[in-house]
Amino acid sequence: MSEEDHQFSQAQQATHPARKIVFGSLISLSVLPIAMLLIAVLWSVKPMIKQSSAQNDAAQESAATNGHAKGALINFATCATCHGVNGEGNAKMHAPRIADLPPWYVKAQLEKFQNGLRGVNPTDVYGQTMRPMAMQVQDVDAMAKIVSDLEGHRGRFAPAGPVIAGNIDHGRVLYAQCVACHGVNGLGERGVKSPTIAGQESWYVQQQLMNFRSGTRGISTADREGNLMRIIVAPLSDADIADLAIFVNAIGNKKTVTPQ
Ligand code: HEC
Ligand code: HEC
Repeated sequence: MSEEDHQFSQAQQATHPARKIVFGSLISLSVLPIAMLLIAVLWSVKPMIKQSSAQNDAAQESAATNGHAKGALINFATCATCHGVNGEGNAKMHAPRIADLPPWYVKAQLEKFQNGLRGVNPTDVYGQTMRPMAMQVQDVDAMAKIVSDLEGHRGRFAPAGPVIAGNIDHGRVLYAQCVACHGVNGLGERGVKSPTIAGQESWYVQQQLMNFRSGTRGISTADREGNLMRIIVAPLSDADIADLAIFVNAIGNKKTVTPQ
């Protein structure tokens, strides 16, 4: 982590409780999309204001080097409010771990949110939280690189939980159906555009498999990857999905997950 990033993190951590209050009161006003935009703008400029002018110059220079568009989200500060400073995820915000994701997948998902292939279905409560954030990212390549460069890349986080209940041995058996695309180790396969899933939080894996099954995610005919996942999960029961979710979580974190 560079000196400058470190200061961003510190600035965020220092003001964390205030941020919670802002979130809570705005959500209760039912103006979530507008609130999210405002918060995002505030949070992307706030760390800049706190820095001395020399540091500010350095930050701007680094933003320019990374090719970020001016006026758009130019760093991870906003994303961190939900996904955590290191992209480790935050169950309370229903925001998944994103530090382990490859840049091409992050880019593809940001574009799906932007193009209305994800996060538009009225039943997709959490996707609708993410969509206004993606709308502000002008340079998806730069943002995808920032995400994939986060510390903790590749399974360095223990699951933050809650780890859902399920039968991990049955999950292992069912996972045979997933190997062709996500690989034995759950690392994904760029050729079929399937992401790394190993070590992802079980609650998020469960949620996404449910979303694919119900058509909350992947329903548009233009979403070919989502359509594929919908076919795979169609025959799975709720219990199958839970079993798969805890197995997938355990692939990347052998030391931390005990079967329940
Ligand atoms: C207000 C909270 C919030 C903020 C801020 C936020 N996200 Fe998200 N993000 C979410 C939630 C919630 C989801 C899960 C959506 C779902 O359940 O389908 C998500 C999902 C994602 C995904 C899809 C992950 C996957 O495995 O498919 C990516 C990529 C992502 N966010 C990147 C970002 C980036 C980059 C930023 C900053 C520009 C950001 N997010 C800001 C809440 C947020
Ligand atoms: C035919 C290839 C294929 C098979 C088989 C497959 N997947 Fe996928 N999976 C994909 C693709 C492609 C995506 C990306 C979807 C998108 O772009 O929205 C994906 C996405 C996912 C996601 C969402 C990840 C995220 O970060 O949001 C999960 C979870 C997942 N798959 C789990 C599974 C499980 C569990 C199985 C086995 C039961 C499975 N997949 C079988 C291709 C496949």
